[in-house]
Amino acid sequence: MKVELTTHQDTVRFGRTLGELLRAGDLVLLSGPLGAGKTVLTKGVADGLGVSGRVSSPTFVIARVHPAGERGVPLVHVDAYRLGGDLAQLDDLDLDTDLADAAVVVEWGEGVAERLSEDHLLVRLERESGDGTDTRIAALEPHGAWTERALPGYQEDRR
Ligand SMILES: Nc1ncnc2c1ncn2[C@@H]1O[C@H](COP(=O)(O)OP(=O)(O)OP(=O)(O)O)[C@@H](O)[C@H]1O
Ligand SMILES: [Mg+2]
Repeated sequence: MKVELTTHQDTVRFGRTLGELLRAGDLVLLSGPLGAGKTVLTKGVADGLGVSGRVSSPTFVIARVHPAGERGVPLVHVDAYRLGGDLAQLDDLDLDTDLADAAVVVEWGEGVAERLSEDHLLVRLERESGDGTDTRIAALEPHGAWTERALPGYQEDRR
């Protein structure tokens, strides 16, 4: 399933819809090149989950925990680029949150973070090539239990 995200704000909105669907223990992997919008999408997810703390590129930290809001589900935002493929490190980070109790979003997660759970949603963000616009295409790839779940943007896509 593919969703067209014409503007920055569309990507935030898409992330928000996804965030509203997320439950404790969920894993979302984001892939796509530098500047594809992985962090922008994560900002929307944080908003949809209602967690606190500003989402930014986790440049100096490998993972950041955003405390739960009213929904009771914290967000763990991971930058796997900096983990260099070694997710074992994630267990060693001593996050003060159990990953099973949080929604976990991993930037650069494809090929790295699948081992955290076979049940995950992969979101591939791509720029629409060579058109001079800001449009991104989000390709959603559900794996495991995610194949049975509602996906964000589905209804919108059919309107
Ligand atoms: N349709 C769009 N969706 C998302 N971002 C967009 C869009 N159009 C323009 N942008 C801009 O592209 C940039 C995306 O940056 P972002 O930090 O989210 O990328 P990233 O994939 O996290 O990159 P990195 O790999 O460096 O972490 C932002 O400056 C954003 O404003
Ligand atoms: Mg980023």
